[in-house]
Amino acid sequence: MSNASLVIANWKMNGNRALTRNMSEVLRDNQADFKGVNVVICPPYTLLSEMAGHIYYDDVALGAQNVSEYESGAHTGEVSVAMLQELGVEYVLLGHSERRAEQHESDQLVAAKAATVTQAGLTAVICVGEDKAQREADNTWSVIQAQLEKSLAGLSAKQMARVVVAYEPIWAIGTGETASPAQAQEVHAKIRGWLVENYQQVGAKTPLLYGGSVKANNAESLFSEADINGGLIGGASLNGEDFCAICRAAK
Ligand code: G3P
Repeated sequence: MSNASLVIANWKMNGNRALTRNMSEVLRDNQADFKGVNVVICPPYTLLSEMAGHIYYDDVALGAQNVSEYESGAHTGEVSVAMLQELGVEYVLLGHSERRAEQHESDQLVAAKAATVTQAGLTAVICVGEDKAQREADNTWSVIQAQLEKSLAGLSAKQMARVVVAYEPIWAIGTGETASPAQAQEVHAKIRGWLVENYQQVGAKTPLLYGGSVKANNAESLFSEADINGGLIGGASLNGEDFCAICRAAK
């Protein structure tokens, strides 16, 4: 029995126009198997327009992997929420561990982007997660709690209603070392408790996604956990059949 309702594909810096067409066809041909599951595809910026054409055809939501915290102006190389909205983007990933590490994105910057995204009526997917050393030092929850407090700082209850939280243990991302369902559920339960304590009924409804080596052969066991409401999928989302199998597991 799945408790999942949302599966997001994070293509990262991968994919091409052929993949957008292939993914669209595979989703179209298989979506009857996972009717009722919200599926979001987050390609690189350059493929958003191509994917948008299929999105309207295949009833799959479009997402972005990042966005500027600014609304417009002299911010070379940046992309605004308004630009994403023109393409039909509904979800934006924020604070992914790869951006926190490589682009030095702070919790404060994530919070600024979350404010811009939710204020515009899009959904912000806030990524949190600990590294191997933090887990081995038994600091997982203190790390996650600090990220939640700082990355969601200043959001109103109305804005919080447009937030999804994705727990992605860094040691499980791209490694094939998936957190066990029990490991993931332990953290998800603490995140759920924190959300309810701080945002009451809004926090009780915040979707909690697990990400980190979710595959076709482990998705069902993860999604059967009480506080895992779906997945944020990296590598497996680049293969149409594998991604559809994960979406079926969420049904
Ligand atoms: O954002 C999802 C990603 O970090 C997980 O990657 O390849 O472990 O599924 P992967």
